[in-house]
Amino acid sequence: MTTMTTQTTPVLEARDVTMRFGGLTAVRSVDFTVNSGEIVGLIGPNGAGKTTFFNCLTGLYVPTEGKVSYKGTVLPPKPHLVTQAGIARTFQNIRLFANMTVLENVLVGRHTRTKEGLWSALLRGPGFKKAEKASEDRSMELLDFIGLAHKRDHLARNLPYGEQRKLEIARALASEPGLLLLDEPTAGMNPQETRATEELVFAIRDQGIAILLIEHDMRFVFNLSDRVAVLVQGEKLVEGTPQVVQADERVVAAYLGTPFEGAPGADEVAEVEAAEADADTATPTATADSTTSTRGESQ
Ligand SMILES: Nc1ncnc2c1ncn2[C@@H]1O[C@H](COP(=O)(O)OP(=O)(O)O)[C@@H](O)[C@H]1O
Ligand SMILES: [Mg+2]
Repeated sequence: MTTMTTQTTPVLEARDVTMRFGGLTAVRSVDFTVNSGEIVGLIGPNGAGKTTFFNCLTGLYVPTEGKVSYKGTVLPPKPHLVTQAGIARTFQNIRLFANMTVLENVLVGRHTRTKEGLWSALLRGPGFKKAEKASEDRSMELLDFIGLAHKRDHLARNLPYGEQRKLEIARALASEPGLLLLDEPTAGMNPQETRATEELVFAIRDQGIAILLIEHDMRFVFNLSDRVAVLVQGEKLVEGTPQVVQADERVVAAYLGTPFEGAPGADEVAEVEAAEADADTATPTATADSTTSTRGESQ
């Protein structure tokens, strides 16, 4: 194998990943790479297949076709084995142990890295006691890193929403990953929390952890990412630097729901629009035209 971290070592490689649910193809032949040291953004309209793709990467779903490798080794489609291999994730819908403390939530995240395992950690058996000190030290280090050390003994369910999201990140980091997947990390956050999360993601990357994030907050994504991929209806439409992606009119069209050349049904939509335009000119008092472009907005 190659040595640890040169700038272009692939950490994650998805090849030709397809996920079907009955007749619905949620992800279609997606090739995707994350290199060491990279922050990669995955964007796309609601229902584009982003979370489904994450689930294929993390073993929650077994892709209908294709394969996923981590540092050159094909991953077994089992979540705990994927975590053990070095991929950690957070969820779009927060998944914490609500009635456990902040510290306990992070300790649970360490179970793939300690010999004792999850049940021993939860039941605090004799094996756990021995490993406890080291694990607790590391967990406190992580809580300190995300700024929640002072809340170690609070119940997770009593944390404000933004802090619960941060705690989920700490728990993911507790498995000592080489790649961190974040599914909408700023959902429900206020602008200050979002900015703090931006700093946090940079700091995680600076520790040598590659990052793949799904986000709706475009400013957040374009600020952070070295590379951005756009998923539309399960297919990777565009991939490139934030500059390239922002300038691509197909991306704008996909988000605004307007047709672009070659889009499914584009001809039909153009016909309808032409008809509507005719109707507008025929009726001077027509209601405000919602198709009037406001393209001038920056990012
Ligand atoms: N477990 C599932 N069973 C059936 N359909 C699903 C399942 N998970 C997701 N889908 C469908 O796959 C499509 C993509 O969903 P999702 O990956 O959640 O999109 P995104 O995260 O981009 O908003 C949607 O049409 C959704 O309804
Ligand atoms: Mg989603």
